[in-house]
Amino acid sequence: PLEEGWAPMRNRKYQGFWIPQRALTGTLDMQQNFKARPDDLWVLSYPKSGTTWLKALAYAIMTRAQYPFHHHPLLRQNPHECVPMVDRTYSRGQAPEIEAMPSPRILNTHLPCSLLPHTIKSLDCKVIYVCRDPKDVLVSLWYFNNGLRLQSMEPIPFTKAFEMFCEGNCPYGPIWEHVLEYWEESQRRPEKVLFLKYEEMLEEPLRIVKRLAEFMGYPFSPEEEKEGVVEEVIELCSFDKLTSLEVNKTGKVLLPSIPLTNNSFFRKGGAGDWRNHMSSEMARKLDRITEQKLEGSGLTLGGVA
Ligand code: A3P
Repeated sequence: PLEEGWAPMRNRKYQGFWIPQRALTGTLDMQQNFKARPDDLWVLSYPKSGTTWLKALAYAIMTRAQYPFHHHPLLRQNPHECVPMVDRTYSRGQAPEIEAMPSPRILNTHLPCSLLPHTIKSLDCKVIYVCRDPKDVLVSLWYFNNGLRLQSMEPIPFTKAFEMFCEGNCPYGPIWEHVLEYWEESQRRPEKVLFLKYEEMLEEPLRIVKRLAEFMGYPFSPEEEKEGVVEEVIELCSFDKLTSLEVNKTGKVLLPSIPLTNNSFFRKGGAGDWRNHMSSEMARKLDRITEQKLEGSGLTLGGVA
C-alpha cells in the first residue's frame, strides 16, 4: 500500500522497511540482477549518518597509491560520483555502469541488511556500516528532505517529521531496525562487517581511518604513517576541504527526477545540532525509543538528552 511518507518521497513499506517510491524499482532490479564480485567493498548506512564522508575516506584510502593528493579525483568529483549508489543507478536503468566498473569496486546503498542482494552475502563481500545519533540523523534528514521537496509541496514542519521518524515512517526507516541488522551482522562476522559511529569518526579520526584501512586490506605502512599520509587522507576528506571545492559547491548529482545539488550533502558536519531543533522532551522521547529498541543488543546510540 502507498502510505503517506516524507514528501516528496512517498515511501512504500517493503519487507518491514519504508523504501522511497522512486528507489523501489531499482531496489527490486538490484536484488534480482546485481552480480557481486568477491572483492567488492560496500559502504552502507542509514541516510544522513555520514555516508558522504565514509565514501570519501574509503575511496581515498583505496586509491592513495594511484594519485598524488594534490591531484586526487576527490578534488574534482563529489564522493557520490566516486562511490555510486547502486539501487539508484539501477533505477536510472544504468546497471551497465556498475558492471563496467573495474575491480575492486566500492559500492553503496541505503538498503537494510535483509534487503541486500544475496550474492553480496554468499560471496562474503566486506561491508563498512556507519551509524549516527538518531536525533542528529533526524535533523539532517529534515533539512535534506525539505531541500528536495517538489515546488508544489509545502515543507514538512519539524514536529511532523519528528512524529513520523519516531514511528519509523521515513526513508529506509525504521532507523533502529536498520542499525540493528548491521550491528548483529558485525558481531557475527567482524572480519567482514566493520561497524562505525559518526561521532567516533569525529572524535578520533586517526584511529578510525587506520582501522578502516586495515579492515579494507589497505593498511598504512610505517613509512606512510611517518610521512603523515593518514593525516593527508583525513584532510582531503574533511568537511572543510570538501566544502571548499568547486565541484561540491556548484555540481549536481544525477538522481531520477530529484533536482539535487552536491552541496545538499554538506550542512554543518558536526554532532549535537539536535539541541537547536528539539525540546528536551522530544529528545528524551527519541532517546527512550532508541534505548528500548537497542536493549540487550550491546549497542548504544545517542543519549544525554
Ligand atoms: P548535517 O546535516 O548534520 O550537517 P550523508 O552523507 O549520510 O547524507 O550524511 C550527511 C551528513 O554528514 C550531514 O550532516 C553532512 O553535513 C555531514 N557530512 C558530510 N560530509 C562530511 C565530512 N566530510 N565530515 C563530517 N561530516 C560530513
